[in-house]
Amino acid sequence: MDKKVAELINDQINKELYSAYLYLDFANYYQDIGLDGFANWYDIQAQEERDHAMLMRTYLFNNGIRVTFDAIAKPDKVFKKVSDPLHAGLEHERYVTSLINAIYKAAKKDDDFRTMQFLDWFVKEQGEEEKNADDLIKKFELYGSDPKGLYALNQELLGRTYSAPSLTL
Ligand code: FEO
Repeated sequence: MDKKVAELINDQINKELYSAYLYLDFANYYQDIGLDGFANWYDIQAQEERDHAMLMRTYLFNNGIRVTFDAIAKPDKVFKKVSDPLHAGLEHERYVTSLINAIYKAAKKDDDFRTMQFLDWFVKEQGEEEKNADDLIKKFELYGSDPKGLYALNQELLGRTYSAPSLTL
Protein backbone atom coordinates (compact mmCIF):
# COMPACT_ATOMS: atom_id res chain seq x y z
CA MET A 1 0.00 0.00 0.00
CA ASP A 2 1.13 3.52 -0.82
CA LYS A 3 2.79 5.18 2.21
CA LYS A 4 0.60 8.29 1.97
CA VAL A 5 -2.63 6.26 1.84
CA ALA A 6 -1.51 4.19 4.83
CA GLU A 7 -0.65 7.38 6.76
CA LEU A 8 -4.03 8.91 5.99
CA ILE A 9 -5.86 5.80 7.23
CA ASN A 10 -3.64 5.71 10.33
CA ASP A 11 -4.48 9.39 10.99
CA GLN A 12 -8.15 8.64 10.45
CA ILE A 13 -8.04 6.10 13.27
CA ASN A 14 -7.13 8.99 15.56
CA LYS A 15 -9.91 11.15 14.08
CA GLU A 16 -12.48 8.39 14.63
CA LEU A 17 -11.34 7.93 18.22
CA TYR A 18 -11.61 11.70 18.65
CA SER A 19 -15.15 11.48 17.25
CA ALA A 20 -15.95 8.90 19.94
CA TYR A 21 -14.46 11.19 22.58
CA LEU A 22 -16.40 14.18 21.21
CA TYR A 23 -19.71 12.31 21.30
CA LEU A 24 -19.03 11.05 24.82
CA ASP A 25 -18.54 14.71 25.74
CA PHE A 26 -21.93 15.52 24.18
CA ALA A 27 -23.39 12.67 26.27
CA ASN A 28 -21.76 14.13 29.40
CA TYR A 29 -23.50 17.44 28.69
CA TYR A 30 -26.90 15.84 28.17
CA GLN A 31 -26.55 13.59 31.19
CA ASP A 32 -25.73 16.65 33.28
CA ILE A 33 -28.89 18.50 32.23
CA GLY A 34 -31.14 15.48 32.70
CA LEU A 35 -31.70 14.44 29.09
CA ASP A 36 -30.71 10.80 29.43
CA GLY A 37 -32.16 9.83 26.04
CA PHE A 38 -29.97 12.35 24.22
CA ALA A 39 -27.03 11.09 26.30
CA ASN A 40 -27.85 7.53 25.27
CA TRP A 41 -28.00 8.50 21.61
CA TYR A 42 -24.49 9.97 21.77
CA ASP A 43 -23.13 7.12 23.90
CA ILE A 44 -24.13 4.75 21.11
CA GLN A 45 -22.77 7.13 18.49
CA ALA A 46 -19.45 7.00 20.34
CA GLN A 47 -19.48 3.18 20.21
CA GLU A 48 -19.98 3.36 16.45
CA GLU A 49 -17.03 5.75 16.12
CA ARG A 50 -14.83 3.33 18.00
CA ASP A 51 -15.98 0.61 15.60
CA HIS A 52 -14.92 2.80 12.67
CA ALA A 53 -11.47 3.22 14.21
CA MET A 54 -11.13 -0.53 14.82
CA LEU A 55 -12.16 -1.40 11.28
CA MET A 56 -9.43 0.87 9.93
CA ARG A 57 -6.92 -0.59 12.38
CA THR A 58 -7.78 -4.13 11.26
CA TYR A 59 -7.57 -3.08 7.62
CA LEU A 60 -4.05 -1.75 8.13
CA PHE A 61 -3.08 -4.89 10.10
CA ASN A 62 -4.39 -7.05 7.26
CA ASN A 63 -2.20 -5.13 4.85
CA GLY A 64 0.93 -5.51 6.95
CA ILE A 65 1.02 -1.90 8.13
CA ARG A 66 2.28 -1.04 11.62
CA VAL A 67 -0.40 1.10 13.27
CA THR A 68 0.75 3.97 15.48
CA PHE A 69 -1.33 6.05 17.88
CA ASP A 70 -1.21 9.76 18.52
CA ALA A 71 -2.74 11.76 21.39
CA ILE A 72 -6.49 12.27 21.17
CA ALA A 73 -7.47 15.95 21.23
CA LYS A 74 -9.55 17.33 24.07
CA PRO A 75 -13.20 18.02 23.19
CA ASP A 76 -13.47 21.74 23.97
CA LYS A 77 -16.93 22.76 22.84
CA VAL A 78 -18.97 24.93 25.18
CA PHE A 79 -22.74 24.44 24.92
CA LYS A 80 -25.16 27.23 25.69
CA LYS A 81 -28.33 25.67 24.33
CA VAL A 82 -29.75 22.13 24.29
CA SER A 83 -29.55 22.11 20.49
CA ASP A 84 -25.88 23.17 20.32
CA PRO A 85 -24.40 19.62 20.31
CA LEU A 86 -26.84 18.59 17.57
CA HIS A 87 -25.50 21.28 15.26
CA ALA A 88 -21.91 20.60 16.29
CA GLY A 89 -22.53 16.92 15.49
CA LEU A 90 -23.72 17.63 11.95
CA GLU A 91 -20.80 19.98 11.34
CA HIS A 92 -18.40 17.34 12.64
CA GLU A 93 -19.85 14.60 10.42
CA ARG A 94 -19.51 16.83 7.37
CA TYR A 95 -15.86 17.30 8.30
CA VAL A 96 -15.39 13.54 8.67
CA THR A 97 -16.97 13.03 5.25
CA SER A 98 -14.37 15.40 3.78
CA LEU A 99 -11.59 13.36 5.45
CA ILE A 100 -12.92 10.05 4.09
CA ASN A 101 -13.22 11.62 0.64
CA ALA A 102 -9.61 12.81 0.83
CA ILE A 103 -8.40 9.27 1.65
CA TYR A 104 -10.51 7.94 -1.20
CA LYS A 105 -8.96 10.44 -3.60
CA ALA A 106 -5.44 9.43 -2.51
CA ALA A 107 -6.29 5.73 -2.98
CA LYS A 108 -7.82 6.44 -6.40
CA LYS A 109 -4.76 8.38 -7.48
CA ASP A 110 -2.64 5.34 -6.63
CA ASP A 111 -5.01 2.83 -8.32
CA ASP A 112 -5.42 1.24 -4.88
CA PHE A 113 -8.65 -0.57 -5.72
CA ARG A 114 -8.61 -2.63 -2.52
CA THR A 115 -8.58 0.47 -0.34
CA MET A 116 -11.24 2.13 -2.50
CA GLN A 117 -13.47 -0.90 -1.98
CA PHE A 118 -12.78 -0.82 1.76
CA LEU A 119 -13.65 2.88 1.86
CA ASP A 120 -16.89 2.41 -0.07
CA TRP A 121 -18.52 1.27 3.19
CA PHE A 122 -17.35 4.47 4.91
CA VAL A 123 -18.59 6.67 2.06
CA LYS A 124 -22.06 5.15 2.49
CA GLU A 125 -21.80 5.29 6.27
CA GLN A 126 -20.99 9.01 6.15
CA GLY A 127 -24.16 9.59 4.15
CA GLU A 128 -26.09 7.88 6.94
CA GLU A 129 -24.20 9.72 9.67
CA GLU A 130 -24.98 13.11 8.13
CA LYS A 131 -28.62 12.17 7.63
CA ASN A 132 -28.98 10.97 11.23
CA ALA A 133 -27.44 14.20 12.53
CA ASP A 134 -29.68 16.29 10.28
CA ASP A 135 -32.81 14.31 11.24
CA LEU A 136 -32.06 14.92 14.90
CA ILE A 137 -31.88 18.67 14.31
CA LYS A 138 -35.18 18.60 12.42
CA LYS A 139 -36.89 16.63 15.18
CA PHE A 140 -35.55 19.00 17.80
CA GLU A 141 -36.76 22.01 15.82
CA LEU A 142 -40.22 20.46 15.58
CA TYR A 143 -40.64 19.23 19.14
CA GLY A 144 -37.82 20.58 21.30
CA SER A 145 -39.34 23.91 22.33
CA ASP A 146 -42.34 22.26 24.01
CA PRO A 147 -41.60 20.45 27.33
CA LYS A 148 -43.88 17.51 26.47
CA GLY A 149 -42.37 17.30 23.00
CA LEU A 150 -38.86 17.37 24.42
CA TYR A 151 -39.79 14.66 26.94
CA ALA A 152 -41.17 12.46 24.15
CA LEU A 153 -38.12 13.02 21.97
CA ASN A 154 -35.84 12.20 24.89
CA GLN A 155 -37.78 8.95 25.45
CA GLU A 156 -37.46 8.09 21.76
CA LEU A 157 -33.69 8.61 21.85
CA LEU A 158 -33.48 6.49 24.99
CA GLY A 159 -34.61 3.60 22.82
CA ARG A 160 -31.60 3.69 20.51
CA THR A 161 -29.65 0.46 20.77
CA TYR A 162 -26.20 -0.46 19.57
CA SER A 163 -25.70 -2.72 16.60
CA ALA A 164 -22.34 -3.87 15.30
CA PRO A 165 -21.18 -2.49 11.93
CA SER A 166 -22.35 -4.31 8.82
CA LEU A 167 -18.76 -4.37 7.49
CA THR A 168 -16.61 -7.32 8.48
CA LEU A 169 -12.95 -7.78 7.62
FE1 FEO B 1 -16.91 7.74 11.97
FE2 FEO B 1 -19.35 9.62 12.54
O1 FEO B 1 -18.07 8.96 11.35
